Amino acid sequence: MFLIDEETIKQKVKELAQKISKDYENSDNLVVIGVLKGAFIFLADLVRELKIPCKVDFIKVSSYGQSTQSSGIVRIELDTSIDIANSDVLIVEDILDTGLTLKYIKELILSRNPRSLKIAVLLDKVERRKIDISADYVGFVVPDKFLVGYGLDFSENYRNIPYIKELET
Ligand code: IMP
Ligand code: MG
Repeated sequence: MFLIDEETIKQKVKELAQKISKDYENSDNLVVIGVLKGAFIFLADLVRELKIPCKVDFIKVSSYGQSTQSSGIVRIELDTSIDIANSDVLIVEDILDTGLTLKYIKELILSRNPRSLKIAVLLDKVERRKIDISADYVGFVVPDKFLVGYGLDFSENYRNIPYIKELET
């Protein structure tokens, strides 16, 4: 069974935070935007490892369709509240799957004229991509299996598992 244990996640988050801290060391206005709900744990761990100041905001979107599949039709359930014009924005998401959700969020944020925009994802299911989008920071490239834990859910369950595992069917 596919599994990423707590220690491995912790090390990777630290590594990503180091890269991000270095890349943004000259930024005076970094806004980290977490995509709810899935990114809440990754974001919480990531920002605590950053060595630079940042603001934190959230966006929540829902995708119509089956619970394990993205339809690409996205609705904003909760929007950001920080004015991001002239900010360096880093979108933080749990997993990049088909890419449809992040493409929508990326375009929405870009329409608000940030100074720059990058994407950090903990997990990347590269082989599932339906559109051309990639993240600037990727924790783990993962196989095409449904994963839960560390924020990731199946029908709202399992988000609190401290590691990532394949959903048993
Ligand atoms: P996309 O629009 O297909 O890229 O889907 C992204 C969203 O689908 C993520 O933010 C997750 O909420 C959800 N998702 C995709 N794959 C998984 C998975 O393996 N486990 C849990 N949620 C997933
Ligand atoms: Mg989800």
